[in-house]
Amino acid sequence: MSQPRPRPAASRASRGRRAAAAALACALLPGCVGTSRQTGLNPNGPQAESIFNLWTFYWVTATAVFVAVMAALALALLRARRRGAVDTSEAGEGRARRWVLGATGVTLAILVVSLVASYLTGRAYAITPEAGRPLQISVIGHQWWWEAQYSDSVHSRSLTTANEIHIPVGRTVVLKMTSTDVIHSFWVPNLAGKKDLIPGYGTTMWLRADRAGVYRGQCAEFCGMQHANMSFLVIADPPGEFARWYEGQLADAMPPADTSASTGKNVFMNHGCVLCHTIRGTDAGSRVGPDLTHVASRRTLAAATIPNNRGWLGGWVMDPQGIKPGTRMPPNDMRADELQALLTYLQSLR
Ligand code: CUA
Repeated sequence: MSQPRPRPAASRASRGRRAAAAALACALLPGCVGTSRQTGLNPNGPQAESIFNLWTFYWVTATAVFVAVMAALALALLRARRRGAVDTSEAGEGRARRWVLGATGVTLAILVVSLVASYLTGRAYAITPEAGRPLQISVIGHQWWWEAQYSDSVHSRSLTTANEIHIPVGRTVVLKMTSTDVIHSFWVPNLAGKKDLIPGYGTTMWLRADRAGVYRGQCAEFCGMQHANMSFLVIADPPGEFARWYEGQLADAMPPADTSASTGKNVFMNHGCVLCHTIRGTDAGSRVGPDLTHVASRRTLAAATIPNNRGWLGGWVMDPQGIKPGTRMPPNDMRADELQALLTYLQSLR
């Protein structure tokens, strides 16, 4: 089956233009953090590209209009100063009328062109490309994390993960979205615009990554105390790498390889962990919190809030409220040796 071919990487000139636009916007927009990779000014797929093009058109037009109006104002002030009085002759009135009518016509033309550009962008954005078989992922919003379900017609080939959504480069991805609690909004600006996740209601959007990379996303609808820490990563892999990742995620959790991991598994099963989390291949099957079957394969924890390493993982297990106040995960009370064994077990779940 033919897949839509990824677009060739942007030319050096167009990349230069984008970098310049990003730098300029960062200089002009308050609160813009230059180090973040998360930006709509570096589009890496058709959806983000159409939004970027519309934004560029509006920005250039608005700047040109501003400059023209300021120049006309300065000219008028200078001329009035030179002449000393307003020209009230019939010829002067006629000239002024022609200028006002001309400027009104130009304004109307700009508004109509802007309207058409916005409509065309919206239409292109909404229509899912027909070519190829799109990958379907269900995204479910929770306070304050993201559940991702990859469904396959063969049930045993479906899988669930959290907060890090892998997609294959060059393939259309259709996201079917809903929420279990309040309204959230899925926004990964390098790839696409925002879409709300609404409790009891399904919304759909599509996106495609034309270049491999890790794209940070963020909940874009205020959803409570930890809205700001409801982030996620979209990881666009080359198709072969995506297939390997998928097969790895399909497998049940690795059984404990040594006595420490084995003790850690017992700690998991005998403490609060088991009440909320699933580890496929074990007795832990609760769906309240993220699926941890392959938690060690993820780059981040707590919805892309902290790095996934032993130190942060330990801190998160013992005192999640200290890291993310208000999170649904309760603090845990266990001995130091139990914690170390639990961390060894969780870190073995690759
Ligand atoms: Cu979820 Cu803001």
